[in-house]
Amino acid sequence: ADFGKCPIKSNVVGGGTRSQDWWPCALNLAVLRQNADASNPLGGDFDYATAFAQLDVEELRKDLTALQTDSQTWWPADYGNYGGLFIRMAWHSAGTYRQIDGRGGAGMGQQRFSQLNSWADNTSLDKARRLLWPIKQKYGSSISWADLMEFAGHVAIENMGLPLYGFAFGRVDTWQADEGIYWGSEDAMYGDADSNRDRYNGSTDITGRSALLEKPLGATNMGLIYVDPEGPSGQPNPAASALDIRTTFGRMGMNDEETVALIGGGHTFGKTHGAVASTYIGPEPNAAGIELQGLGWHNSFKSGVAEYARTSGIEVIWTRTPTNWSNDFFTSLFKNNFTLVESPGGATQWEALGANASHPDPFVAGSFRKPTMLTSDLALLHDTSYYNISETFLNTPAYFAETFSRTWFKLLHRDMGPLSRYLGPYVPKGKPLLWQDPLPTVSYATIDNNDVQQLKGAILALLGPATPGLNVSSLITTAWGAASSFRISDKRGGANGGRIALQPQRSFKANNPERLDVVLGALQKVQKSFNAKQKKKQVSLADLIVLGGVAAVEKAARDARSPVSVPFTPGRVDTTQDLTDVETFAYLAPEADGFRNYGHGNARARTEELLVDKASLLSLNIPEMTVLVGGMRALGANFDGSTTGILTDRPGRLTNDFFVNLLNISTVWTPVNGTAEELFQGSDRVTGAPKYTATRVDLILGSHPELRAVSEVYGSGNAQQKFVNDFVKAWAKVADLDRYDIRGRKQNN
Ligand code: HEM
Repeated sequence: ADFGKCPIKSNVVGGGTRSQDWWPCALNLAVLRQNADASNPLGGDFDYATAFAQLDVEELRKDLTALQTDSQTWWPADYGNYGGLFIRMAWHSAGTYRQIDGRGGAGMGQQRFSQLNSWADNTSLDKARRLLWPIKQKYGSSISWADLMEFAGHVAIENMGLPLYGFAFGRVDTWQADEGIYWGSEDAMYGDADSNRDRYNGSTDITGRSALLEKPLGATNMGLIYVDPEGPSGQPNPAASALDIRTTFGRMGMNDEETVALIGGGHTFGKTHGAVASTYIGPEPNAAGIELQGLGWHNSFKSGVAEYARTSGIEVIWTRTPTNWSNDFFTSLFKNNFTLVESPGGATQWEALGANASHPDPFVAGSFRKPTMLTSDLALLHDTSYYNISETFLNTPAYFAETFSRTWFKLLHRDMGPLSRYLGPYVPKGKPLLWQDPLPTVSYATIDNNDVQQLKGAILALLGPATPGLNVSSLITTAWGAASSFRISDKRGGANGGRIALQPQRSFKANNPERLDVVLGALQKVQKSFNAKQKKKQVSLADLIVLGGVAAVEKAARDARSPVSVPFTPGRVDTTQDLTDVETFAYLAPEADGFRNYGHGNARARTEELLVDKASLLSLNIPEMTVLVGGMRALGANFDGSTTGILTDRPGRLTNDFFVNLLNISTVWTPVNGTAEELFQGSDRVTGAPKYTATRVDLILGSHPELRAVSEVYGSGNAQQKFVNDFVKAWAKVADLDRYDIRGRKQNN
C-alpha cells in the first residue's frame, strides 16, 4: 500500500500521528458524529420538501433536455448527446446500494464525495456532474444533487425514446462521505487477486469465489460499482463473470430478470471510452492538483477529449442506435459471433467476427465500426438462466422495455423508504410495489389524546399476575424491537405497519418470539375491546405497540419519582403479511443489538462495534446511544429478560443507577472464562462477593474515554432528571424514525 504519500506532512488541523494510528483497535465513534446540523450549510431546519415545492419541474426538465444535446467543447458529447453519460452517472449513483445493510444508493448524493468521486469506475462522471452545475446553480437548494443526478439519467432515457415507469424526487443531500459505509478492507484500489484475499475469504478461484464475497459488500473489487467489465480479476471469462454478476446484482436486490434487463437496457445507450493508453491519464479528482478544481483523470493525449477520450480503457459500441431505445443490444448479442480483441486503450473486449461495420462512430458522421461487447455483456450468453431471459427479451421487445422501465424505477428508488417521502409530479399513481413496503390506506379516524390516555391505562391494567410475562421489560423490548428495526440507510423498517407481528420480524431471535407473543396477545386484547366500542375510530396494533413502550417508560419514571410525559404521535397503520417482502425483510434481523444486550461480535466486528453500527443506522448521536443503553438497562429491557448488565437493584424504574454503578470503583470486573471476553463478572473489590454480570456493550460505556465522559454526565449526583429527560427524548426519536408522514423530509440522515 502507498497510503499517505503527501508532499508535506501537516502539523496543523488533524496532521501528525493520531489516536487512531496509535491504537487502531480502539472503538471508532466517528460514524455517530456525522451529518450534524452544524455541518449543513443550509442549516439544521432546512426542509427539502418545502424547498422543492418552489421548483418548476417542467422547466428543469426542459433545461436538462436542452443540455443533453448541447455539446460543450471542454467535454464534447458522443453523437452530440450526453444521454449515455448521464444514464451511467445515475446508475453508478444508485448502483452502490446493497440490501444487506441498506447502505449506498443514490439517496444522499454521495457520488460527489471521496472516495466515490475518485473511484476508477466513476471516471469521467466528474465531467457529467460538472456539465450539470449550471442547472444545479440555477435552482439552488430547490433541487438536491442527489435528485438531479438521478433525474438527469431518467430524462435522458425518456428523451431517447423509452417512457419510464415513474420518478420521485425527495433525496436529501448530505455534506460529507458516509462514514458508516464499509467498502472493504483492501489497501489497494481495485486490487489484484492477492489484495482481494479479504473480500473472498482466501479464495482466488474466479469460478468459485463469488459466493464468498464478504458481507455486506456489493462489488467484486475496491473501486468498482459491481463487477469488472473485463471479467473477474481481469480474466476474460464470461461464464465466471456471470457468477460475479449474479452475486453482486443479487446483493442489490435484483433477480436474474431484473439484472439482464438492467444490463441490456443500460447498454442500449452510449459507448465506452478507451481510445488511448492509461499512461496519458492524470490522477483522480481527490489526488489531482488544486488548479483542476475537483476534476480528475486529465488526459494529455492530443485534445484529451472526444475521439481521444479514455474512461474505462475499453472501446465498445453496443448498438446501431446509441442515442435511441431499441432491442439492438440483444440482437447484436445473439446474431454475432464474438472474438476476444484488445482495445486501443489496451483493455480486453469482444468484437463481432466477420460482421459488417454497422455501429456508428461517435464523432465522424458516415463512419462505422464493428459490433463490440464487454466480457460482462457476454456473460448473459454463458449462463443458462441469463441466456433464456436474454432470448425472451430478444423476441419480445415490448416485454423487455416494460421490464427495464420497472427495474430502472426500482434501481433509483430502492433506498428512498416510505412512499410519504416521494415528491413531484411523476410519482407513479398505481398500486405500490412489494419492495416499497406498502402500508394500506385506511379510512378510519385516528385516536385522539383522550383515547391515548385511556389506552395507556388499559395496557398498564394488564400488568401483574393477570398476564404472566407482561411487564415493563417486555413492553419495552417489544416497542424497541418494532421501532428499532428502522434503518436510516434505506429507510426500511420501523414501527409503522406493525410488521413485528408478521413474518419474518416476529421470528427474529432478537425479538424473543415467545416473549413477543405474550405482549402482542395482550395488546391485541386491548385493541379488540377498544375498537369494538368505536364507530369511526380505530387503534392500530402498530400504535399500541409503541404506546405500550410509552406507558412502560412513563410508569418506570413515576416509580423512580421522576415523572415524565413521553411524546406519542398516533397514526401508524397495520399492514398485512401479503404486503411484506419476507425475503428482504430478513436483512433487518439484527446480528447484535446492544440496546437489548442481544448477540455479540463476529470475526469481522466486535460487539461494541455492532452497537455503534446499530446506533448509526438509527441516526443516533453519542449521548443518545449512551443514554438509551443505560436507560434500557435500568428498565431491565434485555431481549431475554436476563439480568446481565442490569446494574441496579431496582430494575423497572427509570433511574440513572446503571451509570452510577458502572462508574463505581468498588466493583472490579473480570472476564468470565470461556466466553471469549463477551461476558464479565463484577465483584466487590474488598469482599470479592459477586455483584453483577455485564457484556462488552455495558462495559464499553465505562471503558472508552469519550463514552465514559458521557456516562459521567448521566451518573452524576444531580443528573437523575436530565437522564430521564434525555432518555425520553432519544426514545421518542427512535419511535418516530419512520414517521416521514408527520415529520417532512428534514431528517434524512
Ligand atoms: C458504460 C460496465 C451495467 C449503463 C459502461 C462502461 C463500462 C460499463 C466499462 C464504459 C465506461 C466508459 O468507458 O465510458 C458495466 C458493467 C455492468 C454495467 C460491468 C454490469 C455488469 C450497467 C447498467 C446500466 C449501465 C445496469 C444502466 C441501467 C451504462 C451506460 C453506459 C455504460 C448508459 C454508456 C456511458 C456513455 O455513453 O458514456 N458500462 N455496466 N451499465 N453503462 Fe454500464
